[in-house]
Amino acid sequence: MDRIPVFQPYIDADTTKHLQDALDIGWLGMGATTQEFEERIAEYLELDGRYVVATNTGTAALHIALRTAGIGPGDEVITPSFNYVADHQAIRMTGAEVVMCDIREDNLGIDVEKAAELVNEKTRAIIPLHFAGLPCDMASVNELARTRGLRIIEDGMHAFGTTIGGKKIGSGGDICCFSFDPVKIITSIDGGCVVVNSEDELRKLQHLRLLGVDRDTTERYKNRRAWEYDVVSEGYRNHMTNIMASIGVSQIKRIEEFIASRRRVCAAYNEAFQGIKQLIIPKSDFHNVSPFIYTLRVQRDRREGLITHLQERLIDTGIHFIPVHKHSYFSNAPRGDLSVTDKVVEEVLTLPLHSNMRLEFVDRVVDGVTSFFTS
Ligand SMILES: Cc1ncc(COP(=O)(O)O)c(C=O)c1O
Repeated sequence: MDRIPVFQPYIDADTTKHLQDALDIGWLGMGATTQEFEERIAEYLELDGRYVVATNTGTAALHIALRTAGIGPGDEVITPSFNYVADHQAIRMTGAEVVMCDIREDNLGIDVEKAAELVNEKTRAIIPLHFAGLPCDMASVNELARTRGLRIIEDGMHAFGTTIGGKKIGSGGDICCFSFDPVKIITSIDGGCVVVNSEDELRKLQHLRLLGVDRDTTERYKNRRAWEYDVVSEGYRNHMTNIMASIGVSQIKRIEEFIASRRRVCAAYNEAFQGIKQLIIPKSDFHNVSPFIYTLRVQRDRREGLITHLQERLIDTGIHFIPVHKHSYFSNAPRGDLSVTDKVVEEVLTLPLHSNMRLEFVDRVVDGVTSFFTS
């Protein structure tokens, strides 16, 4: 019997071909394929007057997005503690302080009322997360940002393809960041991108991405280097290479199929688990959701038992997340009331979810969970 991993990237012969072609072209660094991937992302997200900058990771995307928004020393940025530590590290990389806020029970997204209590004269930005691909309450985030003069850097890492009001996340509003790391819905092995709504911020991002060199993006996109250039700003080495982008291009071609298959599995899990009173399942029919993970909540004194029961059946599980305020490096970071976070993190459990997941795997996960509560 095969072990069922929590994550399993979908890599096929077409991906291998894209990779081989990119190697054969011989321009391995940032280049024309990076630009092609950016164009495909813009096309998929149906962007109008918005621009994509591809990066080497989602974390780097967050960092240069924050810098583009002018965040730096002395500033504060609010984000949930119930989030991956990448956001908190990206905030600290800018020299700003992270302020951790609570989440809501219904979608495990930011609690905007509690976030509002944390806004002070130092607060410059807010990073909401669309956990597991489920949209958070962006209408309230937008309203808070508008009334308190904050920038929004949306963490769309889990939600590439999720829609709100019929529009894809990233296609409107302020800044949005995505990740294409090894386990995301589409991968470029490692990678990410930032979406902004002005040409001025596009240029800033391009400079921040590659050492502040003014002509690097335009020349490298022709698979060549500029030998005369100026350095116009601070800059990092956060660019996406042609090699990584070639994998991203092969993956984005199949994204609709990946999302549809994951929605079917999430709906099947919800259907199978809805009657189990020790579980709280995601409140969604997934029709507008691009599901990255399937995370349910288990009555806290049953979670360890369920994990062991599934392990015995060769089914892996994950915990999203250990809240960031529990990590030693962030233990002194300012925060508000985190009572929902503290409760939820004792209950969350992530079940396996893959693109084009084997039906036998889906059945085994369903049987594994239901047998634990019925035996
Ligand atoms: C919510 C969230 N934010 C940020 C990141 C960072 O993305 P990356 O791994 O591409 O740096 C991740 C990655 O897992 C994530 O889950």
